[in-house]
Amino acid sequence: MNKKEQLPIGVFDSGLGGLTVVRQLQRVLPHEHIIYLGDNARVPYGTRSAQTVERYAWNCADFLVRRGLKMLVIACNTASAVAVDSLRQRLEVPVLGVIRAGAKVAVKASTRKRIGVIGTAGTVGSGAYPREIKQLDSAVDVFQNAAPLLVPLVEEGWIEGDVPMQAIQRYVAPLVSEKIDVLLLGCTHYPVLQSSIETELRKMGSDALVVDSATAMAIEVSETLETYGLLRTDSFPGELRCYVTDWPDSFIDVAERFLGHSLGTVEKVDIS
Ligand code: DGL
Repeated sequence: MNKKEQLPIGVFDSGLGGLTVVRQLQRVLPHEHIIYLGDNARVPYGTRSAQTVERYAWNCADFLVRRGLKMLVIACNTASAVAVDSLRQRLEVPVLGVIRAGAKVAVKASTRKRIGVIGTAGTVGSGAYPREIKQLDSAVDVFQNAAPLLVPLVEEGWIEGDVPMQAIQRYVAPLVSEKIDVLLLGCTHYPVLQSSIETELRKMGSDALVVDSATAMAIEVSETLETYGLLRTDSFPGELRCYVTDWPDSFIDVAERFLGHSLGTVEKVDIS
């Protein structure tokens, strides 16, 4: 096996939500090493300006690239929406963002060509999902709604009951009235709420299929590694190493909720 194949895949997010992408990567590519950076000292990105998010994304990428990578994955939808092109230009390794992966899976799943997207204010405001979806199929109509309250609800572990249900209902109702057939979860945190979102859609009489960019991203990473001849052929399981920029009290609980299992080594670092 050559040396490059042995290098890890670098993944970053504004915080811990990107572990939903790591979870899918570990499922699809169990032999790959992953290094993860959660910039939780500066979370949320979703409410900040595009310029600020782009600067943060560069800091994250620089930190990971210095550790040696074979590929960079931007797990954060907000950062992917504004920084994927500039990172591709600056870096020598392949750079994948969740927007394209999510757009592809939504277009593939849509038969009536009416796709709804929920995401942070930053992601929705950037217009990145409608742009990407239209590039794949110009006949699709895209309806978006920012769902900012869902991020803190997930961080708090408030994923069932009246409060998240009411928030979800408010956010998806305008999309349901557009008769969407697919709802794309355009934010790292939303897959944790998937079953509540599906329940709310059915209550409103919608048959929309709920898709998320995390699963699609893992498949795209696998295909891209194969194209570049970079898949790790070793039969030993890959390792996960996590870095964070802050160390809040609830860290382990929240991280494990996103990841779906216990967290390995975690180190706090300063990247700014
Ligand atoms: N990671 C962000 C995203 O996927 C959500 C959290 C934040 O606003 O930073 O858009």
